[in-house]
Amino acid sequence: MLTVTRTIHFCAAHRLYNDSWDETKNREIFGKCSNEGGHGHNYTLKISVSGELDKNSGMVVNVTELRDVLKREIFDKLDHRDLDNEVDFLDGLVSTMENLVIKIAENLEKPFNELDVKLVKLELNESDKNSVTLEL
Ligand code: NI
Repeated sequence: MLTVTRTIHFCAAHRLYNDSWDETKNREIFGKCSNEGGHGHNYTLKISVSGELDKNSGMVVNVTELRDVLKREIFDKLDHRDLDNEVDFLDGLVSTMENLVIKIAENLEKPFNELDVKLVKLELNESDKNSVTLEL
């Protein structure tokens, strides 16, 4: 099985805050990440898909088609957005990297089925120190 990985970058703002907790609890759990004004990250997302090699094209997936799906389903919905207030699929969730990769994976399921590839791994970095990997 062959795996193809594409990397995208997006910038977004957020605040780690659970509405069902009070200010003190949020501060205790999330520290300065719960500051009211929020903060931004330059995110890097690596998307890995697997599939069968097409003998005629010599490719698992046409990277142009992969690029277009990722732009439409991820980049256009997240780049330069407030993750807590402008992204429908994150409604009601704390905007952690963990929740982000889970919801991104859900969003990609149908378009990747149409491309005849399977999402096998997402790696989301919010900085050079912190990343989360989802393996499917
Ligand atoms: Ni943050």
